Amino acid sequence: MKLTVNHHTHEIREGRQRILLWVLRDELGLPCDEEGCMAGQCGKCTVLVDGVATRACLTSVGEVEGKEILTYEALQAQPHLQALRDCFAAEQVLQCGWCAVGQMMAAAALLQAHPHPSDDEIIDAMSPNYCRCAAYSRIRRAVRRAAGDQEEMEELEPVA
Ligand code: FES
Ligand code: FES
Repeated sequence: MKLTVNHHTHEIREGRQRILLWVLRDELGLPCDEEGCMAGQCGKCTVLVDGVATRACLTSVGEVEGKEILTYEALQAQPHLQALRDCFAAEQVLQCGWCAVGQMMAAAALLQAHPHPSDDEIIDAMSPNYCRCAAYSRIRRAVRRAAGDQEEMEELEPVA
């Protein structure tokens, strides 16, 4: 079967029930999609599927066949993610960094869908991602700051 990941189509082994996280990491060699709870609770494994933040640990490859999957590896080369990282740094969000990739992916999905999110939209989008350092208020400030960086953020590539 075929999987479209980071703008390339990959031929992968058969097995529609296989977990997307393991296929991305072990078969396609994309280590930024990280393992956390493996139960859909932490958001550490977040990828974008047709622009929607998605738990790769709960997703089978059969579910995402024919869809566009983006991992942190693809986004990190783009200016908008650098802007987002700068905002996280400016707000001193990250302490241990354990949650960083998942938070960035969730924020990228939010800002792609809603370049000017309300505070409620930021809370709704970011709350599912667990930060064991409890930096939630700083995460929200960083996303708000990034949303103000419109010239960068509006250059987000369409995913669909
Ligand atoms: S590893 Fe997927 S949500 Fe925690
Ligand atoms: S910064 Fe440590 S888990 Fe979020």
